[in-house]
Amino acid sequence: MYKKNKDFKWAIARDNFLTQNECDEIIEKIKTQNKMFDNEDFIERNGSWTDFNDDPIKDKIFNVVKIANSMCFKFNIGGVGGCYGKHYFAKDFEDLCENGPLHADLSPENNALVQLSEDGTEEYRDETFEKEIEVFDTTTKLTAIVFLNDDFEGGELVVWDYPIKVKRGRMVIIPSFAGHRVKKFTGNDRFVLATFIKGDYFK
Ligand SMILES: [Fe+2]
Repeated sequence: MYKKNKDFKWAIARDNFLTQNECDEIIEKIKTQNKMFDNEDFIERNGSWTDFNDDPIKDKIFNVVKIANSMCFKFNIGGVGGCYGKHYFAKDFEDLCENGPLHADLSPENNALVQLSEDGTEEYRDETFEKEIEVFDTTTKLTAIVFLNDDFEGGELVVWDYPIKVKRGRMVIIPSFAGHRVKKFTGNDRFVLATFIKGDYFK
């Protein structure tokens, strides 16, 4: 007989992880900090990224993830692989992602990275992105998303076919191998913190 994890969930949420003021401060940082990538095609699909790896919020997130992991997932986790602020633009998401593809955070987000050449035939990867963000591989165990605002329509985090409602200050933790996507949204831009928790590969 194999041991089962009866506590496993596809997603676990912790409301009021951040206060309204804390969310606003982080949104301000995302808006003003240097962008990590300026590839427009990438930003359209994944939002504009900023680095939060030197911000104390990273440890605060990891502390809650550790509790969620011992209650629910029971993965072998080591630490934070990366913490990023993401700014999704409403102007892009009005047209995109209504029924967009699911992705997992285990391997590079191929859909986002592949580009067509001018004549529409050749494809290549954005190697810079893969080198700079070394979080998408088989050592990525958990993904923690903190919603920083909810003043827009839609924008749910869909895990498989289950949409998770966006609520300011709410943290959602999912296994990084769970298929997920952001639903179409309209109105204001959407801001989140995305943190990737790593540990030895599954064995
Ligand atoms: Fe993702």
